Amino acid sequence: MSSAKFSYAGLFSSRSQDLPTRKVIHPKYDFVVAYPDPETVPLEGLMDGLKAGLARDGQDLAYYPHPLGLPELRELVVTKLERDRGFKVTPEEVVITAGSSEANWLVVQALTNPGDTVITEEFVYTGTLAQLRRAGANVVGTPLDDQGIIPEALEDLIKLLTKQGKKPKYLYTIPEFQNPTGSTLPRARREKILEIAHRHNMPILEDDCYVDLRIEGETQPAFRTLDDSGIVNYVASFSKILAPGLRHGYFTVPEDVQRRALSFRAGGGPSQFTSYAVVEYLKKDMYGHISEINDVQRAKRDAMVSALGEHFGGMGAKWTNPAGGLYIWLEMPKNYDMTALQPICFEAGVGYSAGSNFAPNGNGDNFARLCYGHPSPDYNRDGIALLASIIEKQMSRGKARVAPGRR
Ligand SMILES: Cc1ncc(COP(=O)(O)O)c(C=O)c1O
Repeated sequence: MSSAKFSYAGLFSSRSQDLPTRKVIHPKYDFVVAYPDPETVPLEGLMDGLKAGLARDGQDLAYYPHPLGLPELRELVVTKLERDRGFKVTPEEVVITAGSSEANWLVVQALTNPGDTVITEEFVYTGTLAQLRRAGANVVGTPLDDQGIIPEALEDLIKLLTKQGKKPKYLYTIPEFQNPTGSTLPRARREKILEIAHRHNMPILEDDCYVDLRIEGETQPAFRTLDDSGIVNYVASFSKILAPGLRHGYFTVPEDVQRRALSFRAGGGPSQFTSYAVVEYLKKDMYGHISEINDVQRAKRDAMVSALGEHFGGMGAKWTNPAGGLYIWLEMPKNYDMTALQPICFEAGVGYSAGSNFAPNGNGDNFARLCYGHPSPDYNRDGIALLASIIEKQMSRGKARVAPGRR
């Protein structure tokens, strides 16, 4: 047997990418990723749910799962969508996926050819941005204000791109508690955007994964609620109400899109074992649990917002006070380079994600996304105080000022 290392040089597919395995390192104050509070993961309930599911149907694990996912879980999704989002679908129109990441990825692949132009919000969730780029899309961001997409600016952009021979194929949007800006698109804007979408024959991929995390105010109707024509492809997740580690989400799309999307699925879908725990737990206590996590998150949001007032007000910064979701969007004056400061702050103990990470158009250096959801109100207060002191120190040394002429 040869012990010389085998070489794959020249054997990799041209579509593969040589990506390093991501190292997961948490700074002392971690405002980078939207984790739920570990204390609120309903471990007992999930264990009981798993036990009940296995006792009833566990022998079904001997077979491959249903290609659309566990029927009981799809039925629960149907009931949830009707109750919470006010639209009706059948269990055959729901596909359970490994998180909403897989849901987005399957629909993106069904709709995207290399070179297609896809519109997203001007700042957009990095996971989907990476998927769109992986699918070869030319991703263009449409302008936002504090309420999300500005419909008139969207239509101007569509017209401009069309004139340039880059007619947009579809719009990907996170209308409720947008990631990263935290904004929620009002109903009137959704209606206008739907009119624009129909006028330009442009489907919408609606990512509603934060809808359950409302801590105040009124939930807005989903695009999918306002339009039953099939122009809206709807994606959501169990990660935000239970835990991302479960890897459970779902989508509901028109029948022909579903067939195309599933043509990209490999491995038969998410674990049926996990689906038992998810469905049995949620059948018992979904809304009690959602209300409990939102109470916990409200206190953390309030702590972060008040700490920002205390420590960032004097710097001329602005920040959002989101009605839910998991993110505060921080806008620093233009001369603050939050992209350059990101690794420095991380090293000094505070993690955040600079606005430029979310920007298909390459802007956003003076913005940062702060996730308030993870540990505790005190942790948020202390972390924001430390962040302000690191930034002030760096700025006074001239380290993170934007070089003249860079913008
Ligand atoms: C907007 C959005 N979509 C999708 C996801 C993916 O989440 P998951 O695959 O865990 O459902 C995230 C994760 O943060 C997100 O912010």
